[in-house]
Amino acid sequence: MARISLRQLLDHAAEHGYAVPAFNINNMEQGLAMMEAADAVNAPVIIQASRGARAYAHDVMLKALIDALVEMFPHIPVCMHQDHGNSEATCATALHHGFTSVMMDGSLKADAKTPAPFDYNVRVTRAVVDMAHWIGASVEGEIGVLGNLETGMGEKEDGHGFEGILGHDQLLTNPDEAVAFVRATEVDALAIAMGTSHGAFKFTRKPDGDILAMHVIEAVHARLPNTHLVMHGSSTVPQDLQDIINQYGGEMPQTWGVPIEEIQRGIKLGVRKVNVDTDNRMAMVGAIRKVLTEHPGEIDPRKFLGPAQAAMRAVCRQRFEEFGAAGHADKIKPLPLSAMAARYVSGELSPKFAAA
Ligand code: G3H
Ligand code: 13P
Ligand code: ZN
Repeated sequence: MARISLRQLLDHAAEHGYAVPAFNINNMEQGLAMMEAADAVNAPVIIQASRGARAYAHDVMLKALIDALVEMFPHIPVCMHQDHGNSEATCATALHHGFTSVMMDGSLKADAKTPAPFDYNVRVTRAVVDMAHWIGASVEGEIGVLGNLETGMGEKEDGHGFEGILGHDQLLTNPDEAVAFVRATEVDALAIAMGTSHGAFKFTRKPDGDILAMHVIEAVHARLPNTHLVMHGSSTVPQDLQDIINQYGGEMPQTWGVPIEEIQRGIKLGVRKVNVDTDNRMAMVGAIRKVLTEHPGEIDPRKFLGPAQAAMRAVCRQRFEEFGAAGHADKIKPLPLSAMAARYVSGELSPKFAAA
């Protein structure tokens, strides 16, 4: 069995200077696509499920699906992660269903819309850290609110994302707050707000430092050199996938994502988990549109879901390679969560801070 905690996986990534892509799952085809890609390049995997995914696929089905993937690919370490947990209860039920890691996103209140004060974020995140570490599972926290620096707006995919307009003070992680947050919560990984946002419409031009604030990553890493940083909203929104979608009847206005070279710069600055969902969605939709446009009489879903899976597999493989995760799966020996729990108790996993 190769389930692994996020903490053990990201500790390995930090030691060897790579990052692990975290791909979102909703169904079997996506699960097979990411595992087949990982298998092809010997990479460990972070599979993450949003609240929307859990509602769509159902917890019991998701659990069985992950069990099946772990059984089919026993040599690939799999971290099963809750993406954007909105409350302690969401994180608790994820752990109950076999997740080895949870994100407690206390940057927003439990309605997943209202920006939350620092003290609220610390309180809910600390509660989840206590609960998760008791059983050896890991916790990702977030400090700063994800949103677009060009417009000041968030996005509300799956109802998660603030409404209205925020200033840069809230849209960019404050490095001092990040230090205080890690000290108070002892999270295993920290999501940084730096101008990335979810979905396909991140930037209206190729991003420069004004709208993609990589300097925030640099500043946080200087203060927290031992904390694993997480980039959300990190799809690159590839031009070729935009073109395929539009060529086969889609209507996507021109848009820009996060350039791979910026993510690779982030990896040199302590980024260890990179969230990618939109690129996989686009790959699948492009493939489905192509089949159904070229074969309008097709009524066998396998004839378009198969190509969709293959298109997503290609994206996953590319990200494993680009983030340096390829080649590492067989070097990791996943510890049972009970062993991770003992490591937390011993204090060996407590956060470390740069000298003032
Ligand atoms: O958090 C954003 C991910 O792309 C998941 O999206 O909430 O629609 O499943 P979702
Ligand atoms: P993208 O929408 O850029 O793929 O980001 C996904 C994400 O951050 C999930 O938490
Ligand atoms: Zn996210």
